[in-house]
Amino acid sequence: MEKPKVVLGVSGGIAAYKACELLRRLTESGHDVRVVPTESALHFVGAATWSALSGHPVSTEVWSDVHEVPHVRIGQQADLVVVAPATADMLAKAAHGLADDLLTNTLLTARCPVVFAPAMHTEMWEHPATQENVATLRRRGAVVIEPAVGRLTGVDTGKGRLPEPAEIFEICRRVLARGVTEPDLAGRHVVISAGGTREPLDPVRFLGNRSSGKQGYALARTAAARGARVTLIAANTALPDPAGVDVVPVGTAVQLREAVLKAASEADAVVMAAAVADFRPATYAAGKIKKKDDQEPEPIVLIRNPDILAEISTDRPRPGQVVVGFAAETDDVLANGRTKLERKGCDLLVVNEVGERKTFGSEENEAVVLGADGSETPVPYGPKEALAETVWDLVTRRLR
Ligand SMILES: Cc1cc2nc3c(=O)[nH]c(=O)nc-3n(C[C@H](O)[C@H](O)[C@H](O)COP(=O)(O)O)c2cc1C
Repeated sequence: MEKPKVVLGVSGGIAAYKACELLRRLTESGHDVRVVPTESALHFVGAATWSALSGHPVSTEVWSDVHEVPHVRIGQQADLVVVAPATADMLAKAAHGLADDLLTNTLLTARCPVVFAPAMHTEMWEHPATQENVATLRRRGAVVIEPAVGRLTGVDTGKGRLPEPAEIFEICRRVLARGVTEPDLAGRHVVISAGGTREPLDPVRFLGNRSSGKQGYALARTAAARGARVTLIAANTALPDPAGVDVVPVGTAVQLREAVLKAASEADAVVMAAAVADFRPATYAAGKIKKKDDQEPEPIVLIRNPDILAEISTDRPRPGQVVVGFAAETDDVLANGRTKLERKGCDLLVVNEVGERKTFGSEENEAVVLGADGSETPVPYGPKEALAETVWDLVTRRLR
């Protein structure tokens, strides 16, 4: 089978060196990658590096190998074009259709999905000119990944950092797998909760659960690759931030409720994948609870936590919003799922059976997605991303 053809465009930002790792990940996972840097990019990483790592010649302009018409062919033959880092200048040129070097020509001739990973100082990113260029590119079907917040060139910090190459690679993989040039969640804002809440007993102990957050993170990654603006409310996870996703860390069920309600007021869809504790200790001991040799331990008294899924399902923070819940069951899975769906009032409920190699902590899952309309969509055992894609398929149908 022919390897998928990827064009890696690199423009002249300080993060150009990170594109070497993206290139490595793409080639090692079986992609044929042609690197097209700009003249400015070569000030940061030389042509020899791109050429040696990709196994292809490297040119910045349209006047080399003219007999092969590279200014047209490279774009025409590509299955995916990813520009990382994308400078403010490159976004402007792409939005306005300029074609004064090989990369801008390639962007005009490509008919495959296009991903931009912008990186620049916060002021450049927030400038209305850049924001309008980004909006134009998104309207035309490009996936423009939101930059991360963090250390920028020099001592500055803020929004504008290139997301981690491993996470940009994940977006590329998802976009290539879908192969569509019109991301169906473009212009949509989705809120996802992930992980498991921890309910403190004292400063060193808590009641928790075994959720790793992997399913919620898979939902966030796939939604970003489908063009959505994503807010991920993450409860006690230890996973890297997905590219282009706004991550809000929380600890307890009460904190998770507050964060979800705040973000959900302007969301098109809310997916509650987090394992939220039903109960919390009635009291919190300010000092560590001590073991006393001559006494039995005090019983732990529990009180109910708020039912966030039921609350947002019955009183939608935004009209027309789609609400999705998750249920992990150990027996009578479908019957319990159907009862839970009715009790909560959500639109979709993903029901999975807790078991070996699936659900908590695993990379795989198997589930049935129940719809309030009576539908049942089985998702066979496979990567959590596949379940995430099915959830978004069902959500987009309900958003239309
Ligand atoms: C040290 C240095 C770092 C730069 N980093 C960035 C950056 O991260 N993002 C950006 O948009 N521009 C950055 N620039 C400015 C671009 O290099 C400049 O706009 C250039 O014209 C971009 O050309 P290109 O888009 O054709 O690659 C930087 C410039 C210098 C000198």
